[in-house]
Amino acid sequence: MIFLGIETSCDETAVALLKDEREQLVSLVSSQVDLHQKYGGVVPELASRRHIEVLTPLIQEALIQAGLNLKEVDAVAVTRGPGLVGALLVGMETAKALSIGLGIPLLGVNHLAGHIYAAFLENEVKLPALALVVSGGHTELIAVDEEEKFRQLGTTRDDAAGETLDKIARFLGLPYPGGPQIDLLARRGDQNYHRFPVAEMDNPLDFSFSGLKTAVIYFVEELKRRGESVPIENICASFQEAVVNSLISKTKRAIKQGSYKRVIVSGGVAANSRLREKLKELALKLNVELYIPSPGLCTDNALMIARAGFALFKKGLTLSLKEDVDPNLSLYE
Ligand code: KG4
Ligand code: ZN
Repeated sequence: MIFLGIETSCDETAVALLKDEREQLVSLVSSQVDLHQKYGGVVPELASRRHIEVLTPLIQEALIQAGLNLKEVDAVAVTRGPGLVGALLVGMETAKALSIGLGIPLLGVNHLAGHIYAAFLENEVKLPALALVVSGGHTELIAVDEEEKFRQLGTTRDDAAGETLDKIARFLGLPYPGGPQIDLLARRGDQNYHRFPVAEMDNPLDFSFSGLKTAVIYFVEELKRRGESVPIENICASFQEAVVNSLISKTKRAIKQGSYKRVIVSGGVAANSRLREKLKELALKLNVELYIPSPGLCTDNALMIARAGFALFKKGLTLSLKEDVDPNLSLYE
């Protein structure tokens, strides 16, 4: 079976064709970074308009690259939420039109589930597993009991990890999106330059990054006030280390608490080189299987949406044409 995946929840227009669960025929991602860069963050209205312009040509291009005819597509999977409502609608309306026109099933995918299923594209992942989804909008520890059965173990009480990285990068004058910039600069810095504090929550599996964000801002402002130079690489390294350590310590706790043997880590921040390094160390120490998709599958893409659509299809969970996008769609029952 050939699944067409469509992702338009935020600032990437992505289209992919996936055959029989694992065979990656084509994956195209049209980034809107150029559009939003001068505003330092995503402007929802601009995002929707760009999705409208780009999506149909991108689907055509994907079909050409895969050497397929539209009629050969057997099902269409689209991100239903969470995300920006206007952006989600562009993908959903296009997917519905294809579903009606071609008479094929429509699958409405949860974006977080998509990130989790990204790990299934490159590996045979047995379940149950623990999943850590770290992106621009989410920081969640999730119990994946079986396909389509998710339980929330921990979440962020304020900012998501990626959001924190992006905000501090912006404060430091780095271009948007900031996560990859911090990753690069941190490699040349000293992670022990300064110990930035990370708050603890009542639920030990919950995250909080807003205090850390404030601590970094105060620290840098104090340096400036004293007329000292700002060692940007050291600050990036120390700040990134605090974010990574928080993610690692909670993941470690969740693994032990649930006696997990398998851990999936995905979402844009899972592309971070330091996080990947420390996760590998952790997996080795605790003797668990670690599944982190290659960096291009960690960040937003449509292969993961197609694969998640496949999981829904196997369970007969097609989306009715009467249903719509949900900007706050929950992964949990
Ligand atoms: O999953 P994603 O592409 O979109 C959302 O669903 O949010 O994640 C985007 C986030 C952004 O915050 C971006 O700065 C971060 O992932 N990111 C990174 C890296 N690559 C992307 N953060 C740290 N290191 C990276 N290499
Ligand atoms: Zn995402």
